[in-house]
Amino acid sequence: MIANPSNPSGVLHPPELVRDIASWCTRHDLWLVSDEVHGALVYDAPPVSATSSVADPSRLIVVDGVSKVRAMTGWRVGWLLGPAEVVAAARRHTSSTITHVSTLTPRAALAALNNPSPAGVLPTYRSARDLLVRRLREVPGVRCPVPAGGMFAFPDVSSLLDGRRPATTADLAVWLLEDAHVAVVPGEVFGAKTHLRISFAVGHERLSEAADRLVQGLTQGGPTS
Ligand SMILES: Cc1ncc(COP(=O)(O)O)c(C=O)c1O
Repeated sequence: MIANPSNPSGVLHPPELVRDIASWCTRHDLWLVSDEVHGALVYDAPPVSATSSVADPSRLIVVDGVSKVRAMTGWRVGWLLGPAEVVAAARRHTSSTITHVSTLTPRAALAALNNPSPAGVLPTYRSARDLLVRRLREVPGVRCPVPAGGMFAFPDVSSLLDGRRPATTADLAVWLLEDAHVAVVPGEVFGAKTHLRISFAVGHERLSEAADRLVQGLTQGGPTS
């Protein structure tokens, strides 16, 4: 399974890589699931969909939804594209497990999909991304790559984890929440013990305020006594 762009890193796998992974999967009789929930939130390059980069889709399943790009988190509407037998099996499975979503929600999703994304969404996210990355880079020792897509910065804060408190990104996240009043996700929940995941999907004022607090808190290095 690949998420493109990735959550949490924001990396965008290029079409050639997706194509190569898909043909490797076909050769080894494996399925490739391409999660494209953040697929249209790509900032500096054209978006990449496995549906248009994979030559042989016989082992390809694409999952997508309205949560991110259409800002419909909580509506719980998503879909999968794949060979007919996979779609039929998924339908059988969901009908006896989660049953179905309410009638209203797919109609709302259809209405959203039948209309162009509101203009300005991408530039707004891009400038939020740039603001957060720029501010995080002000913190000595913090390395923050520019995410190609998605809605998260994923800085490496390993230089702040020096064996004293905070020993882990979980410690650092608790301290940021309780003292700086900013919620971040510790990297260890993704298996990345040296990173924090920080969302930039908030309005400009709140993001600027949060960035001020993060820069101040992280420069201080978290609780050391
Ligand atoms: C890569 C990825 N896929 C899927 C989901 C789930 O989206 P939904 O809100 O439709 O459950 C998320 C949510 O964070 C995500 O980041």
